[in-house]
Amino acid sequence: MTSKHEDIEVSYSVSNDFFKLWLDRNMHYTSASYLTGDESLDLAQEQKAAILHDYAEITPDSLVLDIGCGWGSFLDFLVSKRGVKEAHGVTLSTEQLRWIEDKQLPQIKAWLQDFNTWEPGWKYDAIVSIEMVDHICSPAQAREGRAVALYREYFRRAHALLKPGGVFACQAILSDRVPRGRKDLEDLAFTADIIFPGGRNPRLEELIMAIRPYFEVEELRTQRTSYRRTTNEWWEGLKANEALIRSTWGDQVYEDYDRYLGTCVKAFDHYWSSDVQLKLRWCPV
Ligand SMILES: C[S@@+](CC[C@H](N)C(=O)[O-])C[C@H]1O[C@@H](n2cnc3c(N)ncnc32)[C@H](O)[C@@H]1O
Repeated sequence: MTSKHEDIEVSYSVSNDFFKLWLDRNMHYTSASYLTGDESLDLAQEQKAAILHDYAEITPDSLVLDIGCGWGSFLDFLVSKRGVKEAHGVTLSTEQLRWIEDKQLPQIKAWLQDFNTWEPGWKYDAIVSIEMVDHICSPAQAREGRAVALYREYFRRAHALLKPGGVFACQAILSDRVPRGRKDLEDLAFTADIIFPGGRNPRLEELIMAIRPYFEVEELRTQRTSYRRTTNEWWEGLKANEALIRSTWGDQVYEDYDRYLGTCVKAFDHYWSSDVQLKLRWCPV
């Protein structure tokens, strides 16, 4: 695997209280889906969850897996808003697992587990993964030409865990274009190396190649402007809490996150980055 446990701790385990200050109330750390443009971040995040729930054709009786479940925001949506009776998640962050366990929702089971080596011994009716695929291949592995093979292994694993005919709803942040300016390139490299070490955003073409032969693409929806708006809301939330963040976690944490979120807003504005939601139907192999 690429993002190692230590890398994930850097990305997601600063402190749950830190992320709580600037994410939405349910702690989704991925693009929301703005449908009218007037919604709050909380509502847009719920809309994202609803889109992926519908893509995955989840019913209350579905056994659902969320690969890279973060703070359990999607799992929580499934059980509290859609009546799902059993929902599972895997994460590599100890802080995220602690947060999920503290909710004490009996319908949710989560594990501190590397998906790349997980063999649970049962299959799922539906699988969802929201922006975890960007932890599958590092910039160094991509330079060695291994990106598509690594993404294909992720899809092969999801396919093996899904019941025949089921759906894998996958949301992924994308790299679309490379900026020309030196400062912009440095800011993107900073985001990759310091905030998400070991991670790399895939190109849509790479994902489409890697999906074969395991899944058929039934629906595909991109949402670059939604991610621009989401990251801008996070950035505003961070800035509104500047004094508290500096005094609690130090100047470096504030400055790193300020630079990272500002870079994200610019990346979506300038078409360097985007986001995709895919409805992937299990295929016989
Ligand atoms: C950007 S966060 C997204 C979290 C969540 N899906 C959401 O929408 O808020 C990526 C998640 O992937 C998890 N992750 C990364 N690599 C993983 C791996 N190899 N196995 C399991 N989880 C992993 C991280 O721990 C984190 O929870």
